[in-house]
Amino acid sequence: MKLILLGAPASGKGTVAKKLAAEFKLEPISAGELLRQEVNSNTTIGKKIKKTIESGDLVPDHLVIEIVRLFITGKDNFILDGFPRTLHQAKDIQNLNINKAIYLKISEQDAVKRISQRRICEQGIHTYHLTVIPPKQPGICDVDGSKLIQRKDDLPKTVRERFRVYIEKTKPLIQFYRQEGILITIGASLTPEEVYQQVKTKIDEIS
Ligand code: AP5
Ligand code: MG
Repeated sequence: MKLILLGAPASGKGTVAKKLAAEFKLEPISAGELLRQEVNSNTTIGKKIKKTIESGDLVPDHLVIEIVRLFITGKDNFILDGFPRTLHQAKDIQNLNINKAIYLKISEQDAVKRISQRRICEQGIHTYHLTVIPPKQPGICDVDGSKLIQRKDDLPKTVRERFRVYIEKTKPLIQFYRQEGILITIGASLTPEEVYQQVKTKIDEIS
């Protein structure tokens, strides 16, 4: 099964992707995480894209496509979180026979509230919310024991820019996948468990 998760910043894509991946044995592939790993490892690509990510803009299509393709080529079971994010990216993977594009719908106000409470581990892999999904020990990752930090692009000014970019470049994909006949829309302002159950019910129907 090949799935895509679409949605505004902090709509819950990463949170849903990890649960779906575990339950339906799919490989979770987060474009944002892959790009942040490039930055953290200071690779050639990482050096080129650091400022772009920190400004809230999108990384150029050809670079993201090159990285994501390495992880999906030849695979039949994956869930893409945060890719595609432009029509160009969507058209690039149009021949892959994606089963469903799951759109997590949330208001900007609710998402901004979530972002201010988000903390991630130093590796940038495990995500918490200070009140809704708190770590067992304050400030420490449950899984790898590293310190919890705020993402650099979670500062209020950058969050506003991420939303602007989302509306301009990514929101058109909702209509694109509706026309392709594979769009599922989920109300994402509920609790993590309620959101996940809605998604699971839809995916159970096709698996
Ligand atoms: P990316 O990392 O993908 O950021 P994003 O799309 O802005 O989404 P987030 O990761 O902020 O949120 P999320 O939807 O995953 O929510 P989460 O589950 O964490 O991309 C970052 C940057 O990389 C981009 O700005 C761009 O520069 C670049 N990039 C990435 N992909 C690209 C592409 N394809 N092309 C070009 N550039 C690209 O949840 C948010 C918070 O809420 C967490 O604290 C979580 O614990 C909590 N939470 C989750 N669900 C709930 C719930 N139901 N109720 C309450 N709290 C919840
Ligand atoms: Mg994410």
